[in-house]
Amino acid sequence: MVIRMLPCQILCLLLAFLCFQVDCSLSFSSSFHHSSTHLCLSEQRDALLEFKHTISVDDDCDTYPTINSWNQSTDCCSWQGVRCNKVTGHVIGIDLSHGCLNGSLFANNSLFHLQNLQWLDLSFNSFYGSLLENSTLFHLQGLQRLNLAHNNFNGSISSELFNQLVSLTHLNLSDSGFSDLIRYAISLLSNLVSLDLSGNDDDTSLSFDAQGFDMLARNLTKLRNLVLDYIDLSGVSINSFLNLSSSLERLSLSYCELHGEFPGEVFGLPYLQHIHLSWNQNLTGYLPKTNLSLALELLDLSFCSFSGSIPSSFGNLTRIIFIDFSENDLGGQIPDVFENLNKLTSLTFYSCNFSGQLPTTLFNLTQLTQLDLSQNQLEGALPNHVSKLQLLEAFWVHDNQISGRLPSWLFTLPSLQQLDLSYNKLTGPIDQIQKPNYLDYIDLSSNEIHGPIPSTFFDLVNLSSLLLSSNNLSGVIKSNMLLKLKNLYNLDLSNNSLLSLSTSGNDVNYSSSQLGLVLFSSCGIRQFPNFFRTSKLMVLDLSNNKISGGISKW
Ligand SMILES: *[C@@H]1O[C@H](CO)[C@@H](O)[C@H](O)[C@H]1NC(C)=O
Ligand SMILES: *[C@@H]1O[C@H](CO)[C@@H](O)[C@H](O)[C@H]1NC(C)=O
Ligand SMILES: *[C@@H]1O[C@H](CO)[C@@H](O)[C@H](O)[C@H]1NC(C)=O
Ligand SMILES: *[C@@H]1O[C@H](CO)[C@@H](O)[C@H](O)[C@H]1NC(C)=O
Ligand SMILES: *[C@@H]1O[C@H](CO)[C@@H](O)[C@H](O)[C@H]1NC(C)=O
Ligand SMILES: *[C@@H]1O[C@H](CO)[C@@H](O)[C@H](O)[C@H]1NC(C)=O
Ligand SMILES: *[C@@H]1O[C@H](CO)[C@@H](O)[C@H](O)[C@H]1NC(C)=O
Ligand SMILES: *[C@@H]1O[C@H](CO)[C@@H](O)[C@H](O)[C@H]1NC(C)=O
Ligand SMILES: *[C@@H]1O[C@H](CO)[C@@H](O)[C@H](O)[C@H]1NC(C)=O
Ligand SMILES: *[C@@H]1O[C@H](CO)[C@@H](O)[C@H](O)[C@H]1NC(C)=O
Ligand SMILES: *[C@@H]1O[C@H](CO)[C@@H](O)[C@H](O)[C@H]1NC(C)=O
Ligand SMILES: *[C@@H]1O[C@H](CO)[C@@H](O)[C@H](O)[C@H]1NC(C)=O
Repeated sequence: MVIRMLPCQILCLLLAFLCFQVDCSLSFSSSFHHSSTHLCLSEQRDALLEFKHTISVDDDCDTYPTINSWNQSTDCCSWQGVRCNKVTGHVIGIDLSHGCLNGSLFANNSLFHLQNLQWLDLSFNSFYGSLLENSTLFHLQGLQRLNLAHNNFNGSISSELFNQLVSLTHLNLSDSGFSDLIRYAISLLSNLVSLDLSGNDDDTSLSFDAQGFDMLARNLTKLRNLVLDYIDLSGVSINSFLNLSSSLERLSLSYCELHGEFPGEVFGLPYLQHIHLSWNQNLTGYLPKTNLSLALELLDLSFCSFSGSIPSSFGNLTRIIFIDFSENDLGGQIPDVFENLNKLTSLTFYSCNFSGQLPTTLFNLTQLTQLDLSQNQLEGALPNHVSKLQLLEAFWVHDNQISGRLPSWLFTLPSLQQLDLSYNKLTGPIDQIQKPNYLDYIDLSSNEIHGPIPSTFFDLVNLSSLLLSSNNLSGVIKSNMLLKLKNLYNLDLSNNSLLSLSTSGNDVNYSSSQLGLVLFSSCGIRQFPNFFRTSKLMVLDLSNNKISGGISKW
C-alpha cells in the first residue's frame, strides 16, 4: 500500500520540521505558541537536560527548587532559571544562583553549546572542576555576563576561553575557587565593565605580577567596577593604578598586600564612588588637598599607613555616606567642615593620631548612625545642646582629652544605644535626665565625674552594661534603684571612694535581676550588701571597702 499525502500536508510537516531544527520566523512561531509545540529548540533543551544529568541537587536544600522542575514534557523556555528570546526561542539567559547544585563543570559541558547565551549565573553552588580543556568547545562569543562566584572549582580557567568571550562585560569569579588565574588573559577582555576576582579569608592564592596588572589597568578601558579583595598584589607596581580607566566607579582592594605610596590622583577619578583600601598595612599615601572626586560615597582607608592631615576640601564631599580611617597616622586637626555632608551615616576616625578641638559641625548631622573618634588626642568640651543626631546609634569617643561636663543630651538622643566616653577628662556632676533614651551600653569610666548618680539614670531601662569606675562619684545607690534596670548584667562602679551601696527599706527580691558581674572595689561601702542573695550573680568584687560587721553565709 502506498500512503498518499496531499501536497499541503507535506508542506506543513516540512515547515514544522524546519521550525524545530532552525529558528521559526516570527509569523510561524506565533502560530505555534498556543499549540503543544515548544518555543524551546530541541537541541538546546537536550543540552540543558544533559547538563542537568551531570549535577545533583542537595536533598536538604530549601531554596527554590529550580533545576528539579526541568523535564522533557515542558517547554524549556518555561523552566525556572531559563530565559529565551521570545521570537527565536534561543536560550539567552540562565540564572541558577543559590540552586544547591553540586557537580562538575568542565569545558566539555553541554551548557557551553548554548551559542546564544548572553548571561550565565551559577553563583552560590558547589560546582567543581576546571575550565581548562579544549577551548574550541566553547561557543559563547555572545556571552556578556558570567557569574561563577562562590563555588568550589578546583582547577584553572583556560586563557583561550577568554579569547572566546569577546563580548563579556561582567565577569564575577569571586570566591569561585579557581587557582592559577589568567593574569595576562584577563586583559583580553577589553569590553569588561565589571570585574570581581576577590577571594576570601582562607583563600588568598591568586596573585597578579607587575606586568599582568599593568596590562589589566591599561587595556580594560571601560572598567567601572574592579574588585580584587584578598588577591596578592604585592608584586604590583603601585603606579599602575594611575593607568586605570577614568570611568572607574568602584575600586576594592582590601587585604591585597599593597605597599608603597598610593597615588593620590586615584581619589580624583571623576566618577569614583567607592574606594576600599583597608588592611594594606604597608600602604602609605596622603589624601590630596584638591581634586577629591565629588562623586565619593564610600572611603575606607582603615588599617593602612596613610599620613598627613585631612584637607579642608573634604567639606565638598556632599555625597559621602561612609568614612573609615581607623588606624592610620593622619595627625593634625580634624577640619570642621562637615556642615554640608548631610548624607554621612558612618564616620570612623579611630586611632588616627588626631589632636585639637572636636569638630562641632559633626553634631549637626542628621543621618549619622555611627560616630567613632576614639583613641586620638582630641580636646575641648562636648556641645551643650544638640538637637540633630536623631539617628545616632553609637557614640564612641573614648581615650581622648575631652573635658567639661557630661551633657544631658547624650541620654536623651532617641536612637542612641552605645555610649563610650571612657578615659577622658570629663567632670561632673551628671544632670537629671529629662527623657531617658534606650541606651544599652554606657562606659564613662576613668574620667573626673563627681557628684551623685542622678535618680533618673535608673530610668535608662534598656541598660545592660553600666561602667562608671574610676571617677569621683559620691552618694548612696539604693538596691531598689538597681532593680529598675531589668536588663543590667554588667555593673562596674569600682574606684569611686565616696560611693556606697545600701539596701532600700523593704527586703527586695532580686530573683528577677539579670546582674551577673558587679564590681564595687575601692568604694565607700560600709555594710555587706545582702540583697544580692537571690540574684543570678556570678562575680561580686567588694574589695577595698569599709565593710564592718558580719558577712552572710550565702
Ligand atoms: C515536568 O515538570 C512539570 C512542571 O514542574 C510537572 O508539572 C510535571 O509533572 C513534570 N513531568 C514529569 C514527567 O516529571
Ligand atoms: C557533592 O556531592 C558529593 C557526592 O555526590 C558529596 O560527597 C559532596 O559532599 C557534595 N558536596 C557538597 C558541597 O554538597
Ligand atoms: C569532560 O571532561 C572531563 C574532564 O576532562 C572528563 O573527565 C569527562 O569524561 C569529559 N566528558 C565527556 C562527556 O567527554
Ligand atoms: C578539541 O575539540 C575539537 C572538537 O571536538 C576536536 O576536533 C579537536 O581535536 C580537539 N582538540 C584537542 C587539542 O583536543
Ligand atoms: C575536584 O573536586 C572534586 C570533587 O570534590 C574531586 O573529585 C576532584 O578530584 C578534585 N580535582 C582536583 C584536581 O583536585
Ligand atoms: C588589549 O585589548 C585589545 C582589544 O582592545 C586586544 O586586541 C589586545 O590583545 C589586548 N592586549 C592585551 C595585552 O591583552
Ligand atoms: C559577585 O557576585 C557575588 C555573589 O553574587 C556578589 O556578592 C558580588 O557583589 C558580585 N560582584 C560584583 C562586582 O558585582
Ligand atoms: C601607563 O601606561 C602607559 C602606556 O599606556 C605606560 O607608558 C606607562 O608606563 C604606564 N604608567 C604606569 C605608571 O604604569
Ligand atoms: C610590611 O612590611 C614589613 C617590613 O617590610 C614586612 O615585614 C611585613 O610583612 C609587611 N606587612 C604586610 C602586611 O605586607
Ligand atoms: C586636578 O585635576 C585637574 C584635571 O585632572 C588637573 O589639571 C590639575 O592639575 C589637578 N590639580 C592638582 C593640584 O593635582
Ligand atoms: C569646594 O568646591 C568649590 C566649588 O565647587 C570650590 O570653589 C572650592 O575651592 C572647593 N573647596 C575646597 C577646599 O577645595
Ligand atoms: C547647627 O545648625 C544650626 C541651625 O540648625 C545653626 O544655628 C548652628 O550654627 C549649627 N552649628 C554648627 C556648629 O554648624
